[in-house]
Amino acid sequence: MMITDQQKFQAIISHAKEYGFVFQSSEIYDGLSAVYDYGPWGSELKRNIRDQWWNEMTRMHDNIVGIDAAIFMHPTTWKASGHVDNFSDPMIDNKDSKKRYRVDHLIEGFAEKLVADGKNDEADILIADMDRFLAANDFSGLKGLIERNKIVCSVSGTGNWTDVRQFNLMFSTQLGSVSDEANEIYLRPETAQGIFVNFLNVQKTARMKIPFGIAQVGKAFRNEIVARQFIFRMREFEQMEMQFFIRPGTQKEWYAYWKEERMKWHTGLGLPAENYRFHDHVKLAHYADAAVDIEYAFPIGWKEVEGIHSRTDFDLSSHQQYSGKKLQYFDNEINQNYVPYVIETSIGLDRMFLLSLSYAYTEEKWTKDDGKEDSRVVLKLPAKIAPIKLAILPLVKKDGLPEIARDIMHECRSDFYCFYEEKDTIGKRYRRMDALGTPFCITIDHQTKEDQTVTIRYRDTMMQERIALAKVRELVKEKIK
Ligand code: GAP
Repeated sequence: MMITDQQKFQAIISHAKEYGFVFQSSEIYDGLSAVYDYGPWGSELKRNIRDQWWNEMTRMHDNIVGIDAAIFMHPTTWKASGHVDNFSDPMIDNKDSKKRYRVDHLIEGFAEKLVADGKNDEADILIADMDRFLAANDFSGLKGLIERNKIVCSVSGTGNWTDVRQFNLMFSTQLGSVSDEANEIYLRPETAQGIFVNFLNVQKTARMKIPFGIAQVGKAFRNEIVARQFIFRMREFEQMEMQFFIRPGTQKEWYAYWKEERMKWHTGLGLPAENYRFHDHVKLAHYADAAVDIEYAFPIGWKEVEGIHSRTDFDLSSHQQYSGKKLQYFDNEINQNYVPYVIETSIGLDRMFLLSLSYAYTEEKWTKDDGKEDSRVVLKLPAKIAPIKLAILPLVKKDGLPEIARDIMHECRSDFYCFYEEKDTIGKRYRRMDALGTPFCITIDHQTKEDQTVTIRYRDTMMQERIALAKVRELVKEKIK
């Protein structure tokens, strides 16, 4: 029987916990909503995705360098960036249940129900109206839309709504021991500002010439009101962002360039192009003159995984104004001083992690030669990002087989992540490695002692063949390159 997308999503969440990928934060205290911890295999997978991004952006581009800025920044940063005044979402509360909703999520949820009932035209009109009201910041229009469509709260079942209001999503805390307002600072809601305030430091010390980029990976924090759907929307998450500084007037061509480059990165990981699409923003963020999302067909629908934003000179100009320090570049090719324009690429690491699991999670059933049914759950993760690359399995725990296995483990472990396992039957060990997404398993058996060959098993096809022990390391290295 085929499973539905919703069932698949639930299965992914259970699998992620059962196999040590993702745990609810502080689970022994009943967890903390929309905050998650990564377990042994989750942290490996996350690190591999991060490394793929970092290497692509920095090592593979002559004109991009990385930084690692602090999470805490001077509070004026967020005034200058517009986050204090603009980083808010329109929310509405249900007076009976006291539950708060992001207005766009509430309306989108209702539109999804219309689609499920075959009322696609009504859903399209609803979303178009919503986009129009959002773009115009027309809050009474949004409330009217909710009321006319008789959208109700999922908890109370009533349509007893407050007015639509804006809520700022930044977390604040106190710097130092004195609790007064002057010491209030924010946990950064995006990593980008750490790049902007360091623009001149980096440009000068790394002797960068425009066009050039600065990349950064790090934590960001948002007090998301509607935080659901597992690690899709978190309150503490990680971003991988790159700001590309360019000559004013060239933003259209660089925007097109980065759209293409970023899509190439996704498909270059081995993820299918047909699962991706671009979605242009209707309502632009306060800093952008063009913006597009890279969306993926998650089991919960088409959703944003990455944003590409043409941020104009908004951020640098604003920091220049608030700090009183010049943030300009002298372009000796055209003999002009200017505040550079910026194209930003911004991807959520946790969301990319969820995307990878969504793509990889597969339930398979088949009938064996003896007529019996068999099944497995396998994570068909691209080998490049799989947490364990090679499982090394001695057939039995004796006769010198573990020693040979340990030797090959010793030989390979500095090149890629290897996992040694001698417990259970070989079939059970294969299944466990399938569930962790391990692309290659080798079994050391008695024949290995005679002819120095091993059985290699390929995860996706379950095909097995014998190869020379001496070739294992190079074969795996080649496949994960
Ligand atoms: N500097 C631009 C910026 O932050 P964004 O579209 O708000 O733009 C960029 O965020 C990416 O960060 C998103 O595409 C998404 O992958 C990720 N992201 C944003 N909010 C998130 C959240 N609450 N939980 C997980 N990932 C999130």
